[in-house]
Amino acid sequence: MAIERTLSIIKPDGVEKNVVGNILNRFESASLKIVVLKMVHLSKKEAEGFYAVHKDRPFFEELTTFMSRGPVVITVLEGEDAINKNRTIMGATNPAEADEGTIRKDFAKDVGENSVHGSDGPDTAKVEIGYFFAETELVN
Ligand code: CMP
Repeated sequence: MAIERTLSIIKPDGVEKNVVGNILNRFESASLKIVVLKMVHLSKKEAEGFYAVHKDRPFFEELTTFMSRGPVVITVLEGEDAINKNRTIMGATNPAEADEGTIRKDFAKDVGENSVHGSDGPDTAKVEIGYFFAETELVN
């Protein structure tokens, strides 16, 4: 299995619920290494840029308002099969459909406030990592 990197965001609801450490522990326990980490409060414009692929969706305004309402924790995770592994740890986008023991099952309120984001494939991972981090920050 290939070593991959993926972008993870602990969304404002996860930070508000005080479960940042709990979530990071799940990544580390699954042998995903934290390459780089920062806590930032995204502007509406930054959230819109990150989610530009969804700009024509009916939930775009709600999504970008939510993502800019408070700080988020952004990490690059590295490990074997990191992209899929992170998606398994997160659980389904809609927490009502998420498996037991996943982050979204345990903490998410609904499809909008779903606690975490993770890249959905190698191409998106590359673009999403580049959106938040310079190459020189990804040296660990
Ligand atoms: P995420 O993995 O961050 O990628 C896009 C996000 O859009 C998704 O998680 C959801 O939080 C959000 N999203 C998807 N569908 C809806 C919806 N119907 N209403 C609100 N937000 C949504």
